Amino acid sequence: MAKTDTYTDNKRKVDVRAANMSAAKAVADAVRTSLGPRGMDKMVVNGNGDVTITNDGATILKLMEVSSPAAKMLVELSRSQDINAGDGTTSVTVLAGALLNKCIQLIGKGVHPTVISDAMNLASDKAVEILTSLAIPVDLNDREALIKSATTSLSSKVVAQHSSLLAPIAVDCVLRIAEDCRKLTTQVQRADGYRVTQAGASVSGKMVDLRDVRIIKKLGDTVDATEFVEGLVFDQKATKSAGGPTKVKGAKIALIQFCVSPPKTDLENNVVLSDYAAMDRLLKEERNYILGMVKKIKASGCNVLLVQKSILRDATTELSLHYLAKAKILVVRDIERDEIEFISKTLNLLPIAHIDNMKPEKLGVADLVEEVSIGVSRIVKVTGIPNMGRTATVVVRGSNKLVLEEADRSLHDALCVIRCLVQRPFLIAGGGAPEIELSRQLREWAKTLPGMEQYCVKAFSEAMEVIPYTLAENAGLNPIQIVTELKNHHAKGCLHHGINVRKGTVTNILDENVVQPLQVSTSAVTLATECVRMILKIDDIVMTR
Ligand SMILES: Nc1ncnc2c1ncn2[C@@H]1O[C@H](COP(=O)(O)OP(=O)(O)OP(=O)(O)O)[C@@H](O)[C@H]1O
Ligand SMILES: [Mg+2]
Repeated sequence: MAKTDTYTDNKRKVDVRAANMSAAKAVADAVRTSLGPRGMDKMVVNGNGDVTITNDGATILKLMEVSSPAAKMLVELSRSQDINAGDGTTSVTVLAGALLNKCIQLIGKGVHPTVISDAMNLASDKAVEILTSLAIPVDLNDREALIKSATTSLSSKVVAQHSSLLAPIAVDCVLRIAEDCRKLTTQVQRADGYRVTQAGASVSGKMVDLRDVRIIKKLGDTVDATEFVEGLVFDQKATKSAGGPTKVKGAKIALIQFCVSPPKTDLENNVVLSDYAAMDRLLKEERNYILGMVKKIKASGCNVLLVQKSILRDATTELSLHYLAKAKILVVRDIERDEIEFISKTLNLLPIAHIDNMKPEKLGVADLVEEVSIGVSRIVKVTGIPNMGRTATVVVRGSNKLVLEEADRSLHDALCVIRCLVQRPFLIAGGGAPEIELSRQLREWAKTLPGMEQYCVKAFSEAMEVIPYTLAENAGLNPIQIVTELKNHHAKGCLHHGINVRKGTVTNILDENVVQPLQVSTSAVTLATECVRMILKIDDIVMTR
C-alpha cells in the first residue's frame, strides 16, 4: 500500500511540473514569430473590440489573456525585461521557451529538477561573463554609434522605415536628459561575502530618467512629421474664449496651482438673496475679487498663465478669462497634477500655490509662446527657453491611431536602448552572433565540468541557439543551414558573424551596423534563466480562498 502512495504522490508532482512547463512554453511559442527584423506583427483585439497592432513582445504578452499561473510568469518575465532593459522582450521570452524545452527533455531522461536548476545558474553566470568578454566599448560622444543601436532596435518594428528619423530623435532626447551624477555611496563586498554600503567613495556616472522625456501623440500626417522640440509643448490649446492672445513674445510664465474664480463655501451652505440690490452687491463683489486677482497676476509681470486643473471648483470662470484676456495674458488651462514637476523643471520656474506668492522671481521666461495648429487640433509651443532644464519633448505623428500608438512604443524601445548604453557603455553585435558564440564557448566550458552538470550546461548552450534559429526561420531562410554555417564561422574564430537578414546570408554583422547594448543581452539571459529555474522548482499548485 505504501508503495502505491508514493507512486501517486510522485505522479502528481510530475504532472504539475509538466503542465506548468507546457503552459509557459505555449506562451513563448506565441511570440516566437515576431522576433527579428523580418518577424511578423500581432493584431491584438480585446473584448471591447479595441485593436492594437504591435511587434513588442512585452505589449503582446501584456494584452494577451492568460489564465495559467505558470504562463503568467512568462508575462511577468517580459515585463521585467522591459523595465530592466526596455528592449529584448521578445528574445527573453523565446529564450525562456527554449530553456523550458530543454528542461522537459532533461527531466524526461530522469535528471532531478534541483540538479538542472543549479547547473542553469552556473551556466547563466558563465554566459554573462562570456557576453561581457564579447562587448565593444562605446564612446558616448560617438553619436553615430548610438544611432546605429537605436536603429537596430527600431528595425524590427512596424515603423522601421522611419528609423532614420526616429533613431536620431531618441539619441538626442537621451543625451539631453542624461545627468551627471556622483554616487556618494558604493556597494562593497566584504571579505565575509556580505555586501555593505560604504559612504565617502564617489563614483561618477550618468543617470537617465525617461520620465524627463515627454512624448505627445497627435493624430494626422505621417510618422515622418515626428519632431523633436527644443522647448515645451502643451497637449491642449490656449483658452481664448474671451479673445485672449494666442502668441506672446518675451513670455513671462507663471504656473499657478490656485483657482482664479470666486471662492466656494466649505460645506453645503446657501446664500439667500432676497432683493435685487443684494444681487448687484454680490456680483460686484465677485467682479472686484476677480479683478483684484488678475491685477496681482499682471503686476508680477506675468503674461502667460498655466493653470493647474482643479477638482474642487472651476479653476477659471468666464469672468476671470475675460479679465485675463483684457490684461493680454495667454492662458493654458487643465495642467495635470503630475505635469507640474516636468514643467517647473523645463522652464526653471516655481509653481505658485497662492495669489499672495505671485512674485516676479517665481516666473519662468521664454522667447516665444505660441499656439500652433497641428492636424485637426492645436497645441501650445514654448520655445527659446534660456538655460532650459534637462528635459526633452517629442511630438509623434501618425496617420491613424494604431500607427501612432506603435510609433510611441517603438520610440520608447529606442529610448531605452540608448539609456542602457548611457548607463553601461558597451555594445555587442546583433543578428544572432552573440548567441552562437555563447553557445560555442559554453559547450567548450561544459567539458571541464563533472558529470551531470556538464550534461545540463550543454543543454543550456544548445538552448541559446534558438535566437539565430528563429531569426533565420522568420526571415524565410533555411534555419538548419544558416545555423550550421554560423557555427562554422564561429568555430573558425569569426566572433561577429551573424545573420544578414537582408541578403539572406551569414556575414560580419558589425559591417551591417547591427549592434545592440550589452545590457539587453545579459539581462535577457539572466532573467530567462531565473524564470525557468523558478518554474522548474514548482511541484505543486495549492489553491486558497
Ligand atoms: N538588421 C538586422 N539583421 C539581423 N538581425 C537583426 C537586425 N535587427 C535586429 N536584429 C536582431 O533581432 C533581434 C531583436 O528582435 P526584436 O526587436 O523583434 O525583438 P526584441 O528586441 O527581443 O523584443 P522587443 O523589441 O519586442 O522588445 C535581436 O536578436 C537582434 O540582434
Ligand atoms: Mg527590439
